[in-house]
Amino acid sequence: MNHFLDIHKTAAGDLRQIIDQAGAMKQARLGRPKGAPDNDQPLAGHMVALIFEKPSTRTRVSFDVGVRQMGGETMVLSGNDMQLGHGETIADTARVLSRYVDMIMIRTFDETVLTEMADYADVPVINGLTDRTHPCQIMADVMTFEEHRGPIAGKKVVWTGDGNNVCASFLHAAGQFGFNFTFTGPSQLDPEEAFMGFARKMGSTVTVERDPFKAVENADLIVADTWVSMHDSQSSKERRHNMLRPYQVNEDLIGHAKPDALFMHCLPAHREEEVTSAVMDGPQSVIFDEAENRLHAQKAIMRWCLGV
Ligand code: CP
Ligand code: NVA
Repeated sequence: MNHFLDIHKTAAGDLRQIIDQAGAMKQARLGRPKGAPDNDQPLAGHMVALIFEKPSTRTRVSFDVGVRQMGGETMVLSGNDMQLGHGETIADTARVLSRYVDMIMIRTFDETVLTEMADYADVPVINGLTDRTHPCQIMADVMTFEEHRGPIAGKKVVWTGDGNNVCASFLHAAGQFGFNFTFTGPSQLDPEEAFMGFARKMGSTVTVERDPFKAVENADLIVADTWVSMHDSQSSKERRHNMLRPYQVNEDLIGHAKPDALFMHCLPAHREEEVTSAVMDGPQSVIFDEAENRLHAQKAIMRWCLGV
């Protein structure tokens, strides 16, 4: 059994195998109704708990549908409604859930909740986003890039805005998949040094460039995310918007990248804030392919976790 906690904690060969399997499973389903079972039913008889301590549309629906396509069953749990949210320890929750279910996916705030769950669970635990990372999203993003443009190794990825949890997993992926990464945003919102250090240690070129127009020069992929994440206080909203406004991805900015540069956003997006509708709905945008690929990538992640 394997936990899927973060991209830098998973061997590069396993990450590649997951992406390849996701692609093969996607191909095998082409043209079929979303609710139709896969030909293979590797999760038959398996029960998967999906725990959410924060809101979710994509993660919730894609995990739920993915488990069902592979023959398993899910229970979707809100952290608030569980004893977890009322003082029961994470360790005890992990040990109890392990007696009922075959796998746990959790979206939470502090990443120690995730790691403690994994430490005490006897079943695989998957990171469905914490304040610090969002690995399932970036597996879907790497898959999406490669579907459109071939191998991501050696490419230039530019992150615009807040050096947040999604940015952190992109930096882990830069190290593991061998692409180069430029961060452009205000210094107050730089990614943590540890994330940049990992990518550099693995041989990627990581650049911090305050001028967004210089940053996107020669970019193969431009990525944006919300300026205020779920774990950020609402009181910081105005200050963050003021700092981040120069980093909006609009037609002018994307026009300074390679002509065939792709645009990605994990969604949900705030149209006309971090990105304009012209870019989101424009020819370089692959945002809905990313959303779809959450389903395929996570199905392959779950198979890897269970070894099925
Ligand atoms: N991108 C993503 O994780 O979306 P949700 O918050 O809707 O799950
Ligand atoms: N950075 C965002 C991602 C949402 C999927 C957040 O954490 O709210």
